[in-house]
Amino acid sequence: MGAHVSRHVDIPGMKRHDNTAMGVARIRWMEHARKPEASRLFEDPYAKYFSIGHPFLEWLGSDYVVCKVNQRYPGLISMVVARTAFLDHVCHQAITDHACTQMIILGAGYDTRAIRLFHNNSNNNSTKIHCFEVDQPKVQKLKKLGLQSLPIQKGELSHVHLISVDFNSNESLQDKLEAHPQFQRGAKTIILLEGVTYYIPKKSTAETLKQLQSMVGKGSILGVSYVHQAVLQKKSELSWIQEGICADPQDVARVVARVRRGGEPWISGWTPEEFTKFLKKDHGFVVLEDVTVSDLESRYFEPLGRTARPFLCAERFVMAQKA
Ligand SMILES: C[S@@+](CC[C@H](N)C(=O)[O-])C[C@H]1O[C@@H](n2cnc3c(N)ncnc32)[C@H](O)[C@@H]1O
Repeated sequence: MGAHVSRHVDIPGMKRHDNTAMGVARIRWMEHARKPEASRLFEDPYAKYFSIGHPFLEWLGSDYVVCKVNQRYPGLISMVVARTAFLDHVCHQAITDHACTQMIILGAGYDTRAIRLFHNNSNNNSTKIHCFEVDQPKVQKLKKLGLQSLPIQKGELSHVHLISVDFNSNESLQDKLEAHPQFQRGAKTIILLEGVTYYIPKKSTAETLKQLQSMVGKGSILGVSYVHQAVLQKKSELSWIQEGICADPQDVARVVARVRRGGEPWISGWTPEEFTKFLKKDHGFVVLEDVTVSDLESRYFEPLGRTARPFLCAERFVMAQKA
């Protein structure tokens, strides 16, 4: 009952465990609600079910909500929308070009890819693969309730498996995955770690990837995002411009301050060179692509007659492959 109440009620001043997950779900709802449909980078009809007060947001209309968020946090929506589109594409490529047969979503929050991209609906041509979603126990409790509220058949979730692990604890992700009857050790796997690495210490990311690397097959695909190290350095506003992270340092400063106020500050960052080394040397993943929203404007936004400007390139998006 407690979890049910906290899923639907937002009490001012009370810390929610799913603040960041819900923030991303809201942005995905905004994209899904765009008109005309043909101008959307992706569809996520389920995102709204994970967002408190979605009927009110729908009443306000996505155009209005997008406009308000853009005024306060210029570039934030485009950054998250580009990240989602890029990682959707990584998942499709992992299946079609690299023959991956299962998916692990780390820090899954309210990601709905397991249903959006790969589900059991036999009327749909999409591939059916098992998806293991990993997150903190408190967030997973809320996710489970959200999943139960989706307007889909029960059987459509039979391939989605929730595995509770706190990356900052000593719990073994490896033990939990290997104990799961559907998990195939050594299979080519899609691993997603989206919007998570900057909330946890680097050693938690390292330990998590180390465990996974030993369980998945050669050729597995990793889709991961990270924050540029310069963003976390105080008084480095000039370097934000030099590194192409933003045109106006205020835009980054506001986002950094917002996440800190929300109680989940960004604490870990890498330069692109460091991140490539980190993945290769310690974990055997070779970076195939490392991009920002500005690199993706011509790929995703312009063909739809849209712009992603002003660019907020605080977060970078990576596709890597296990060597
Ligand atoms: C910004 S949300 C991103 C959610 C999801 N990947 C997406 O893109 O929709 C960050 C997620 O990381 C999870 N997370 C943060 N710290 C964690 C930890 N120590 N262990 C497990 N999950 C964690 C949060 O619970 C949250 O769901």
